[in-house]
Amino acid sequence: MSKVCFDLITIFPEYFSPLKLSLIGKAQENNLVSIAIHDLRDQAQGVHKSVDDTPYGGGAGMVMSPVPWGEALDRVIASDSAAIHDLIILTPAGQKLTQSLVEELVVCEHLIFACGRYEGIDHRVTEFYQTLPNIRVREISIGDYVLGGGEVATLVIMEAVIRLIPGVLGNPQSLVEESHSLPEDAVEYPNYTKPASWRGIEVPEVLLSGNHARIKSWRNEQARERTLKLDPRTRG
Ligand code: ADE
Repeated sequence: MSKVCFDLITIFPEYFSPLKLSLIGKAQENNLVSIAIHDLRDQAQGVHKSVDDTPYGGGAGMVMSPVPWGEALDRVIASDSAAIHDLIILTPAGQKLTQSLVEELVVCEHLIFACGRYEGIDHRVTEFYQTLPNIRVREISIGDYVLGGGEVATLVIMEAVIRLIPGVLGNPQSLVEESHSLPEDAVEYPNYTKPASWRGIEVPEVLLSGNHARIKSWRNEQARERTLKLDPRTRG
């Protein structure tokens, strides 16, 4: 698999300093991903470098202007014009993020994240880029709550996507049994490590038995119970 490219467009580039850390930092060092961060304000016009305006039709809040967004997106797309681009617009009105959507994103060549603020980005940005060849536009929400902007949502999606890129995790086997990649969206069984006794609580005896068949069936049962306990309305 060739390197996955990420371009992030935001008015708060500093939000993305955690990308230097841990798994994603290492994935960049190992050349498995490339990440470029662009300040939307660089494309803003006028002395005030404003990127938003009042909504047509009235209402509270401000809407991000399509003008700087168009400039910023055109530049990013032109910088890798041979690629298929997936433009992700973060919005609470988008398709809900799930592990299967994450699995779709990990095979993309070039992902662009448009981080809106305020009441979001003028909808013509979605409409315009949908008409272009070699660009897929996806509006994505990370859950049914409203954030101050798309930056944190972008970090969430990137972490979920990048850990699936081959070579990123030290032990790829850990992807096999984890929550939400199991059948029927089951969650994982509980995990324990040393010490065997902690604050008077013992690790379940079966896990110390060395009997792999018993361990497997205990874990399946635990996963089933945990999954059933989750309220279907809160599972998304
Ligand atoms: N922007 C504001 N809230 C959001 C959410 N829940 N998901 C994605 N982007 C957002």
